Amino acid sequence: PPNFQMMEGNSSIGKMNCRAKGAAPGFKVAILGAAGGIGQPLSMLMKMNPLVSVLHLYDVVNTLGVTADISHMDTGAVVRGFVGKDKLDEALTGMDLVIIPAGVPRKPGMTRDDLFKINAGIVKTICEGIARSCPRAIVNLISNPVNSTVPIAAEVFKKAGIYDPKRLLGVTMLDVVRANTFVAEVLGLDPREVDVPVVGGHAGVTILPLLSQVKPPCSFTPEEINYLTDRIQNGGTEVVEAKAGAGSATLSMAYAAVKFADACLRGLRGDAGVIECSFVTELPFFATKVRLGRSGAEEIFPLGPLNEYERAGLEKAKKELAVSIDKGVSFTRN
Ligand code: NAI
Repeated sequence: PPNFQMMEGNSSIGKMNCRAKGAAPGFKVAILGAAGGIGQPLSMLMKMNPLVSVLHLYDVVNTLGVTADISHMDTGAVVRGFVGKDKLDEALTGMDLVIIPAGVPRKPGMTRDDLFKINAGIVKTICEGIARSCPRAIVNLISNPVNSTVPIAAEVFKKAGIYDPKRLLGVTMLDVVRANTFVAEVLGLDPREVDVPVVGGHAGVTILPLLSQVKPPCSFTPEEINYLTDRIQNGGTEVVEAKAGAGSATLSMAYAAVKFADACLRGLRGDAGVIECSFVTELPFFATKVRLGRSGAEEIFPLGPLNEYERAGLEKAKKELAVSIDKGVSFTRN
């Protein structure tokens, strides 16, 4: 049988005598939670990314339909589907980049922390798989609460003896994407021209937009600062409420995840000057601007000069972050 698709259950293609096509040069990427609200559009967008040669889609349910569907797109990446826990290691073997949107999303009235009980266990299981099957891969962790799941991942990797802080990256790109959009609206600019650093964490007051460092340089009134800070911190809740029980941000998240994954792949390729915000584990846990290179987050930039409003925000963020980090660390230690 041809091996241009190794997807299980693809019977009609499997029986044809097609010539097998080798994978184009590029990176091997796995998406875990690929059949979910984020996972599906994320899989589609990664199939369109020219830096990807092999795309492994893994979920505990419904992966094969998504794989069959996406595999018909006439782009370079070879797509393979894996369903069920006993396929986790196979899905991960040989991967350069692993993107994790597995886990339950919020419903109205829930905080990201309310997801901890279920998602902590999912992230732990997945990270144990990564430690066994692709310990050198770059990990992009999306599953919430990011402020606690990244510490869980770090603990699992430490326990397995493969922890490399450069390679474990919490995805806070959606906060940056939202900040760019909302700030551009206020300034009357094209959002593609706007760059807002967002630091701290990925929940409520831990999300700290640095409006004093917006590019292009600009200034805001105190009312605009309050409005923008509040909207950026609660952008996720805005979507949760509008979806009214049907989940949280999926499409804008898939877009943000691909923007971040693409930056990681350009870094892996050796491109110079790839700089994005991410939740890293060296400070010990904090979202900040990092330079992405061949080995992951190779340089962590200082926060730069903060104004009084931002300094007060930072103190609040640090306090709440410490509690979330502790929760993640003690989950894996106990
Ligand atoms: P969803 O429920 O639509 O999809 C989650 C998928 O994960 C499902 O297909 C499910 O079968 C799968 N899954 C469950 N257990 C698994 C396991 N052990 N291994 C592999 N896959 C498993 O949820 P959605 O909307 O896609 O959100 C996923 C996660 O992303 C949630 O935790 C959500 O809070 C988080 N999120 C993070 C954001 C960020 O900015 N970092 C933004 C938006 C959502």
